[in-house]
Amino acid sequence: MIDMQTSSSATRPLKAARLRALPAFLFNEIDNLKRAAIASGKDVINLGVGDPDQPTPGFIIDAMDKAMRIPANHQYPDCWGTKQLLNSAAAFMRKRFGVSVDPHKNILVTIGGKDGIAHLPLALLDPGDGAIVFTPAYPVYASATILAGGVVHAIPASADSGWLPDFHSGPTLEALNHAGPRSRVLWMNYPGNPSGATASPALYRDALNFAQRHHLTVASDLAYSELYLNNDPACIPSIWQPDIGADIRTTRAIEFHSLSKTFNMTGWRVGFAVGHEDVINALRQVKDNVDSGVFNAIQSAAAAALDRFNDPEINAIRTRYAERAAIVCDALSRITTVTPPRAGIFVWARCPIDSQTGRPMNSWTFSKKLIEEAAVVTVPGAGFGETSADWFRVGLTRETSRIGEAMGRIASLRF
Ligand SMILES: Cc1ncc(COP(=O)(O)O)c(C=O)c1O
Repeated sequence: MIDMQTSSSATRPLKAARLRALPAFLFNEIDNLKRAAIASGKDVINLGVGDPDQPTPGFIIDAMDKAMRIPANHQYPDCWGTKQLLNSAAAFMRKRFGVSVDPHKNILVTIGGKDGIAHLPLALLDPGDGAIVFTPAYPVYASATILAGGVVHAIPASADSGWLPDFHSGPTLEALNHAGPRSRVLWMNYPGNPSGATASPALYRDALNFAQRHHLTVASDLAYSELYLNNDPACIPSIWQPDIGADIRTTRAIEFHSLSKTFNMTGWRVGFAVGHEDVINALRQVKDNVDSGVFNAIQSAAAAALDRFNDPEINAIRTRYAERAAIVCDALSRITTVTPPRAGIFVWARCPIDSQTGRPMNSWTFSKKLIEEAAVVTVPGAGFGETSADWFRVGLTRETSRIGEAMGRIASLRF
């Protein structure tokens, strides 16, 4: 028998230090409670997910069907992006945001937004370099930083500032200036997950100016770019749009787009990044070594989607989320204060006041109560950062009637 373990490998944990450095997955407990509720036969309504319930629009499936029947598409993909998709992404940026970019220098196709986001730190950070993340935040900015050996500088935003950072004064600026001389990346995400907060052009201008002064690359995650719920696309700017004033040839920044949420395409895994040529090249170099791109037929379907980003079917997706948001806000306003979201696929609200303490409930306690007493799953804000410990997130990605039913159940609870 072969003994595979030397004495040093026997004492070393199986997992590499970079994996051990990742924070515990905070939502496990909620997942376990959800599973237990399902196992006990309860009719669980899961409003914890951000995965659209509706199918991908038919015109996109038709484009995929055609592209799948072309044998050349069965080979390894054009891993930086097919000419067709790069051109469609550039045209989308022009039509939607008034931005002119070189599709071959400034755009890179990604396997969904997460691929680009998760690999960017490997491209830009040396071990010990910092990345600034405003919390509450999508957890991948922090976990990807840690996997790359970087250090996360989490800077809390709060309800008082509309969940937005302030680059001019107050605690944000102080925290930013103390974030460390070796910070290299500044993450932004508006419309934000979980908060739904949207950024003004002025906020991006401030961020880009701050980043330039401190030699940071701005990485902006625009995963929800088309999910404005108020008929006002201007409430979701791109960092590259002309009125912000950043020149893509000279500004070190990158913006991540995704087809997942806008086009009900989460399972297809396709997105793209638009950025300064050097940043795009650095990310390409990482990806050249870890993946082989997106199936060309999917890229063809993604091009068809972007070509018709304003199709009535896409407007209908927004209208449906806006209706659902209204149902949720109306119901929640009876138990707490809630601001209707301008964008995104979530309602983000403060937990109701606990009648025993007179203070908002802790979000773990509140979310557990919703599962146990109403069989409704929501996401506790505590899992996203400490300033949102008494906030919770309700997903709008379940059928409207199920959302209505969930709200009815919540309304019958006592807090
Ligand atoms: C803020 C944010 N960014 C990026 C993603 C990743 O989406 P995808 O990889 O499907 O494009 C998500 C998914 O939930 C998200 O919420």
